[in-house]
Amino acid sequence: MAKAESESAGTDNESRLSEAEIAVHWKEEKVYYPNPRFVGQANLTDPTVKDRFAEKNFPECFREYADLLTWDKYWTTTLDTSKAPFWKWFVGGKLNVSYNCVDRQLEKNRNKAALIFVSEDEAEPPVAVTYQDLYIRVNEMAALLRDFCGLKTGDRVTIHMPMVAELPITMLACARLGVIHSVVYGGFSGEACGSRIADSGSRILITIDGYYRSGKVIDHKANADIAVRKAQEDGTKVEKVLVWKRFRDKSASATPMVEGRDFMVNDVLKQFAGKLVDPVSMPAEAPLFLMYTSGSTGKPKGCQHSTGGYLAYVTGTSKYIQDIHPTDVYWCMADIGWITGHSYIVYGPLALAATSVIYEGVPTYPDAGRVWRIAERLGVNIFHTSPTAIRMLRKLGPDEPKKYHYRFKSMTTVGEPIEPEAWKWYYEIVGQGQAVITDTWWQTENGGFLCSTKPAMDPMKPGSAGPPMLGIYPIIYDEKAKEIPAGAGKAGNICIRNPWPGIFQTIWGDPDRYVATYYSKYNTNKNSTDWHDWPYFAGDGATWAADGYIRILGRVDDVINVAGHRLGTKEIESACLTVPEVAEAAVVPIVDPERGRVPEVYIALKPGVKATPAEVSAKVTLAIETVIGKIARPRVVRVVPDMPKTRSGKIMRRVLAAISNQMDYGDITTLANPEVVEQIRVQVQGAGPVVKKTAPEDIKAFGADV
Ligand code: WTA
Repeated sequence: MAKAESESAGTDNESRLSEAEIAVHWKEEKVYYPNPRFVGQANLTDPTVKDRFAEKNFPECFREYADLLTWDKYWTTTLDTSKAPFWKWFVGGKLNVSYNCVDRQLEKNRNKAALIFVSEDEAEPPVAVTYQDLYIRVNEMAALLRDFCGLKTGDRVTIHMPMVAELPITMLACARLGVIHSVVYGGFSGEACGSRIADSGSRILITIDGYYRSGKVIDHKANADIAVRKAQEDGTKVEKVLVWKRFRDKSASATPMVEGRDFMVNDVLKQFAGKLVDPVSMPAEAPLFLMYTSGSTGKPKGCQHSTGGYLAYVTGTSKYIQDIHPTDVYWCMADIGWITGHSYIVYGPLALAATSVIYEGVPTYPDAGRVWRIAERLGVNIFHTSPTAIRMLRKLGPDEPKKYHYRFKSMTTVGEPIEPEAWKWYYEIVGQGQAVITDTWWQTENGGFLCSTKPAMDPMKPGSAGPPMLGIYPIIYDEKAKEIPAGAGKAGNICIRNPWPGIFQTIWGDPDRYVATYYSKYNTNKNSTDWHDWPYFAGDGATWAADGYIRILGRVDDVINVAGHRLGTKEIESACLTVPEVAEAAVVPIVDPERGRVPEVYIALKPGVKATPAEVSAKVTLAIETVIGKIARPRVVRVVPDMPKTRSGKIMRRVLAAISNQMDYGDITTLANPEVVEQIRVQVQGAGPVVKKTAPEDIKAFGADV
């Protein structure tokens, strides 16, 4: 446990305290008011809602979200805190998620598109899956999972698939049976998938033969073989690999099927044609899925999300913040392999009978107009993406949106802080000054939004996520658990004082790490069953302005937010250490104009290594791609003579991050080898004078505890 403890940022990081507390000054942006036409049709305009969700009405206020669902049995206890901080919501209640997202929509929306799949290949027309179609396909797949794979309630299944309609179909089929799905982002490597299979104890892996990416067909089945091997090494035997077919008339993979282990889903499904499976009525607090995410230590955490609380929370926030009506065509460009896709492509929108668009490919393929053509062609009116995508689309085609006839009523951004300049382009050019923007702050662990404007009620402020969500009561603490009040002009660690229905239930197989990482830091009585004693530590730095708007500054732990995706520096470092020539590795984030942050790798070699630095660098990059995936590819791998170290031998990542980001590296007199710092600086920055730039808060705070 000792190792994981450090994740809660411990008490030994006094130096970070000063970083987190430093005054933050930024230009106050002018606010923007929602367009009256949007307000006129919005789901949430009633000003009494703030009172209904005020703390005095907690936790019963969340009945409003739960009442958006169809329950087989109504719950008896809204929030059970008896095993704090393992919260239980809507206890005694029973429901089925697939029933709520599919069956119950048939009466009014049977022939409406539930999903529209858009191939990356523009010559392939979009494919609409109606609610009736979805019902049939989910039932058939559920029958296959139950009768061909022998899966039952509580079993885990790993799904490693890209953005195709068969992915939500598979997830909903699992949910129908109460089988816990663990979707691994399709861009993760086979090895990364294999270690997640083993951690979750899945006997079944579901994949696809291939898919389009940047105009090429990727052989994805090849990853399944690696994943099965890796899972076996880690102690879990995969019994069956189910392979969906990307194309009806040809195979997308040259990788052979393994006799007796691998099965083409499309073939096996024929046995289950027209078969219906009763949705299993699940307790509200039964797990619905696992979603692995990165933390401070090397091992990804399987965040376990619940059935009733999770679905209630994503449905409520989809309705009131995304402003989804059943008549809307909604497009979230995230990947279903991340939490945003689970909550806001699949579960929230389908529970509200919306049409949810699934785009297979790269947003800028084949050109910078693709996104806007899709929006025009499908009549998308709600759009949801990340600052990275906004920056990229703006860079490649600043005037492209103007060439297409689409009209968004609302737009969302998620995943990273958005700089006011990018925000304004999104608002003026993409939204034509008409669409509202919600900047939504939250995390894999949270299920749904924690901060955002209520789009018809609150003005928008570029660069600020906005006020806390309904029923969410944040607090910003310094390292000594002293509150930093709104308007103090100082940054600190943002925490949420109360539990909410979307909060994850535990880390799969590691409840101690769950408590240590998220709750120990500011808990004063570990035996307390009163939620007031258990603030949730989010791991983000934030400031709270006097007007109640929260600005998120970035991670305060060793997590790098690359293009809106969370990567643990320790995970990348362990991948580097698989290269035999590497003695030591340190990974630091550097600021990137499009992707937010990207990893940069420092390597020290073992003595006597014959390979050239260029050869070792290439091996290190390949190792990172193999162990994690291409998303973690470093911008540069630098082979240095030695790592800057403390006298106790810890690598000073803070100094390396400063050098990489052209910042002042501060006091190094206490290091064991201060002379190496200057050597590295010259190697990275050149021999000229020391360059000193100011850096964002997360970069300044990076590695402060070592
Ligand atoms: C960051 C994604 C600023 C933050 C839903 C958080 C944001 C991490 C925002 C979670 C935002 C997310 N403004 N920063 N609107 N949204 N973040 O788990 O650092 O992939 O801790 O969940 O992304 O990333 P995750």
